[in-house]
Amino acid sequence: MARHLITSAIPYINGIKHLGNLVGSQLPADLFARYQRARGHEVMFICATDEHGTPAELAAAKAGKPVAEYCTEMHEVQAEIARGFKLSFDHFGRSSSAQNRKLTQHFAVQLAKAGLLREVTEKQMYSKADGRFLPDRYIEGTCPNCGFESARGDQCDNCTKQLDPVDLINPHSVISGSTDLELRETKHLFLRQSAMKDQLDAWIDSKTDWPILTTSIAKKWLHDGDGLQDRGITRDLSWGVPAQFEGAPWSGMEGKVFYVWFDAPIEYLAATQEWADKTGGDWERWWRTDKGADDVTYTEFMGKDNVPFHTLSFPATILGSNEPWKLVDYIKSFNYLNYDGGQFSTSRGRGVFMDQALEILPADYWRWWLLSHAPESADSEFTWENFQTSVNKDLADVLGNFVSRITKFTRSKFGEALPEGGAWGEQEDALIAELTTRIRAYETHMEAMDIRKSAAELRAIWVAGNEYLQASAPWSAFKTDPDRAAAIARLALNLIPLYAVLSAPFIPDAADSMLGAMQTEDRSWPQDVKAALTALPAGHAFVTPEVLFRKIADEEREDWQKRFAGTRD
Ligand code: 2FM
Ligand code: ZN
Repeated sequence: MARHLITSAIPYINGIKHLGNLVGSQLPADLFARYQRARGHEVMFICATDEHGTPAELAAAKAGKPVAEYCTEMHEVQAEIARGFKLSFDHFGRSSSAQNRKLTQHFAVQLAKAGLLREVTEKQMYSKADGRFLPDRYIEGTCPNCGFESARGDQCDNCTKQLDPVDLINPHSVISGSTDLELRETKHLFLRQSAMKDQLDAWIDSKTDWPILTTSIAKKWLHDGDGLQDRGITRDLSWGVPAQFEGAPWSGMEGKVFYVWFDAPIEYLAATQEWADKTGGDWERWWRTDKGADDVTYTEFMGKDNVPFHTLSFPATILGSNEPWKLVDYIKSFNYLNYDGGQFSTSRGRGVFMDQALEILPADYWRWWLLSHAPESADSEFTWENFQTSVNKDLADVLGNFVSRITKFTRSKFGEALPEGGAWGEQEDALIAELTTRIRAYETHMEAMDIRKSAAELRAIWVAGNEYLQASAPWSAFKTDPDRAAAIARLALNLIPLYAVLSAPFIPDAADSMLGAMQTEDRSWPQDVKAALTALPAGHAFVTPEVLFRKIADEEREDWQKRFAGTRD
């Protein structure tokens, strides 16, 4: 039994996420976690809300609520939607937790001890109209790199370049819109990433099996321009982990907090500690290589804009601490999902948001489409036509229809139990051979986190069942040789739990319904296909299920297309 630590990038607290966010981190991480559990491995699957920094403060101000109260409410909203999508986190934490505060401060002290922090007095944008400094998202302007006009102070959403607010062209305050800004002196802590450049470079070079998307972004930040820059890890804000605290080996940081991107990845550890404090579990067993984590495989899932922080800044924190913390083993990153000819956009409310999706259709429909179209090698696009086609073909015509045909046929000819009699022949041998090959390929793709390939193989496994039914035609056989029809039905009914187990990582609710209909709780992985297809014996009772997946009608699709054409209020 292997041990898998799996983290999804932690979504900002500022509002409900769209389907592009979901497919870029939480959903593929859930697929992998469910798969590894199904294979009998021990899994710790962690996510959280990213509650600090300017995104949280700005959203709370917009909602007219104190930021702590806003975060508590929105955490519950996001947790509820995550449950709706069947995201199987072992813990869904909060980066504003006491555990994260303590760990973040601990890491900062360790970095200072290692000589990796330096104090920098620098000039920062100060807004006279607002009477405060404008860090990160409090300031917007034109990106000096690509010319995008709504670049934020910390990062350009268009070209993903990490920015400094002073870099922006035509900057203005997001609070008041004021352009009456001046540079004022303020003191901050900087992480000396440049001192760790060679170490990080060698570490990335050793990751030869990582997706190109991940390593190319890391390499760009290591080598473009002047190479890896030191980064300010404190901000002039009040909401966040305080940068001045008891035991801090520096002074004069009152009224400042750590930068949200410093404490957010530390929340992966802290959330595991939150889990341990709640359940009595041992979190260090997952994170400290001197306390059992040396045999853990750690995989992170994220969108491409998060890659620089996870390949460089966070590893710099871990390595620089000089303590035996677990480093990531594999980073699976994603391109963007676009929406109907443009971008999904949280700020502009464009696209389908997670809560809206669940109002329209159950989670499995979305999970299937999103995962089978995951933006792995390039950006991909959601269109309503494509969604309708996939649901109707893959889920309704292929999988749903298979289940419905064989259960209804058996009920009408033999009653609701697996029929007795008859023998297998060449058709069955061929099916078993095909399924065995395909299931082994499916396992290989799932291990490699090749999500689209996994989905395609799973679909082919469903198709094989339909083709078997079509070719063996139990409804014809029944007229001349009812025993033969019984043997076919028995095998085909056994395919239902086999499909349920294989499909559960993608469509967990349908898998439950399928197992429920077949009145079995056996979720063991089909190592031996032949054995799996005789698991339920003759005489075993089943219940003919309701429709597993309904089809999307053209009128419905057109309605949704209209409803989601504009922007959400
Ligand atoms: O891009 C985002 O949504 C960030 N909140 C991701 C943070 S991931 C990690 F660092 F915790
Ligand atoms: Zn840009």
